[in-house]
Amino acid sequence: MALFGSLLASLAAALSIALLCGLDAYSGVEARRTFPTRDQIQARQLEAAKRYNVNNLLKAQQFPKNELFVASNAGASGPSASVQNITFKNPLASHFWVNGTSIPFVDWDVGPSWAGLLPISSAANETRKLFFWFFPPAEGGSLDDLILWTNGGPGCSSLLGLLQENGPISWQHGQAKPTPNQYSWTKISSMLWVEQPVGTGYSQGTPTAQNEEDVAAQLVGFLKQFLHVFSELKGKKFYLTGESVRIFTRRHYPMFTKTFGNIADYIYTHPTLLDLELQGIWMGDPVIGWFVTQEQIPAVDFVHKYEHVFAFNQTFLKYLDDTALKCGYTGYQQKYATYPPKGPLPLPGHDTFADPGCDVWDDIFNAVLIVNPAFNCTGSLTSIRCYGTFLVSRDGSFFALQTTPTYFDRLDVKQAIHAPLNSTWQICTDINVFPNGDASLPPTFTVLPNVIEKSKKAIIMHGLADYVLIADGMTWAGKQGFQTPIANDSFIVDGIGALGTVHEERGFTYYEVVLSGHMFVFAFIPI
Ligand SMILES: *[C@@H]1O[C@H](CO)[C@@H](O)[C@H](O)[C@H]1NC(C)=O
Ligand SMILES: *[C@@H]1O[C@H](CO)[C@@H](O)[C@H](O)[C@H]1NC(C)=O
Ligand SMILES: *[C@@H]1O[C@H](CO)[C@@H](O)[C@H](O)[C@H]1NC(C)=O
Ligand SMILES: *[C@@H]1O[C@H](CO)[C@@H](O)[C@H](O)[C@H]1NC(C)=O
Ligand SMILES: *[C@@H]1O[C@H](CO)[C@@H](O)[C@H](O)[C@H]1NC(C)=O
Ligand SMILES: *[C@@H]1O[C@H](CO)[C@@H](O)[C@H](O)[C@H]1NC(C)=O
Ligand SMILES: *[C@@H]1O[C@H](CO)[C@@H](O)[C@H](O)[C@H]1NC(C)=O
Repeated sequence: MALFGSLLASLAAALSIALLCGLDAYSGVEARRTFPTRDQIQARQLEAAKRYNVNNLLKAQQFPKNELFVASNAGASGPSASVQNITFKNPLASHFWVNGTSIPFVDWDVGPSWAGLLPISSAANETRKLFFWFFPPAEGGSLDDLILWTNGGPGCSSLLGLLQENGPISWQHGQAKPTPNQYSWTKISSMLWVEQPVGTGYSQGTPTAQNEEDVAAQLVGFLKQFLHVFSELKGKKFYLTGESVRIFTRRHYPMFTKTFGNIADYIYTHPTLLDLELQGIWMGDPVIGWFVTQEQIPAVDFVHKYEHVFAFNQTFLKYLDDTALKCGYTGYQQKYATYPPKGPLPLPGHDTFADPGCDVWDDIFNAVLIVNPAFNCTGSLTSIRCYGTFLVSRDGSFFALQTTPTYFDRLDVKQAIHAPLNSTWQICTDINVFPNGDASLPPTFTVLPNVIEKSKKAIIMHGLADYVLIADGMTWAGKQGFQTPIANDSFIVDGIGALGTVHEERGFTYYEVVLSGHMFVFAFIPI
């Protein structure tokens, strides 16, 4: 799975550059006299990385030694506008062609790409359309692969991922204008960002989805139309990737991404629907289980782990400890999160969310705002990356608080990428994409085991400083959970050293990344 290896390599490269830039920001004229040069720092990092003795670590865990676990800086060459030539013969494709030299604010040639709306079925009366932006691979990237990226929510736009996480155009918070992203995933593969489900971003039509299977059917329907126009992409090795974005509306919790596993499961169980070879999935910070096990139970331990950051008073800490004990959270992880697991994870009470008086997750969130307004996701983000990112909203506002047009709500941008001019683009939609709620169970209990078993590779990455979704455990390939412990410092990034842990069993790989928030891989990298 060289491709996933390359994804990691690009992540690793991004991390090492971020480290260097971070240091650079503090190195004024004075500082330069006393601080080592960038080259000296890098030499020390390389030296430090060697001390981790990567090979022995790998041997100790009996991992197959491949590039997946030892990421390298390969591919970290400078930005390049040159892309591989894909010629689409279907004349319809030309309607979607985006002129890479005339994308607003982008002052370099991004190269050709294709964007616009396509219906989710071939029915003549079909009113539901999804918006996509497709980029061919950059020079050196694989023409055999197609990666689909989607952000979560559900209802949050994947263009957020394109612009702030893994696309060729990078416009980060605090930047006056976009810059080339030299770690764009287009460096390794063709990329397709899709705004889904119906109701999200520029996508058109009235949401009718009742469950995740409906959402999966929409995306697969769209992909069929996409492959009809861009038929040269048929038969490619296909990878579903993406991450959770959560809209935080107090007391409104059902907005998690389950979509992922369900889309992959739908494709595996309907193998003739799509002319693509699904290889696997890559999920960043997903919700895969019950809220109570994935968020409530670990919350108080999370506070203790970052006690100095939360800075709660002792009265409140005692309240949390007492509540955790009363509600059956205390010691739960030690008792049940064992290697191998002793049995299925029981609910600590009666509710999959929280029993009355046991909603410590909310208690903590509310209390932390008193002590530390920086925890406010709409204000500035500091120590704990509680979630999200601001997407080109220059005034620091978020979601509905937006007061200036965001990039994708500008008329010139819509014109450039064939977006519907009369639409109002929002990073996460106000429209409920599940008008009657989402009837699907968490994927741990439904589709994920099947997806892992059928995939050549299934990867979950998790940011350890993510308070939105806290790391947790499922039964697949005949056994529950991981059978052996996750080794300390097992995620080694070449040139930096350990940045967390990685563990693989029975076709499922799990990464934990230190100091990284909810949208960690790119939006909030751990430096
Ligand atoms: C694309 O094709 C054109 C003309 O056929 C050629 O000049 C150019 O070098 C090609 N680019 C790449 C990246 O192969
Ligand atoms: C692409 O945009 C540039 C800059 O606006 C323009 O000069 C050029 O003619 C455009 N190319 C095509 C094929 O429309
Ligand atoms: C399209 O028409 C068919 C019947 O001809 C109907 O069943 C279907 O619901 C219609 N679809 C939409 C999106 O209006
Ligand atoms: C302790 O912290 C909690 C939550 O921030 C707050 O409600 C309470 O007033 C504080 N108590 C004292 C004694 O400061
Ligand atoms: C967060 O900050 C914004 C502006 O800085 C403010 O309007 C909002 O009320 C704050 N939210 C909370 C929950 O404190
Ligand atoms: C935008 O225009 C299209 C066609 O021109 C129409 O179908 C759609 O309903 C319009 N959307 C809004 C929000 O007005
Ligand atoms: C991993 O590190 C922790 C300290 O962070 C330590 O308590 C634990 O024993 C270590 N585990 C192993 C298997 O070395």
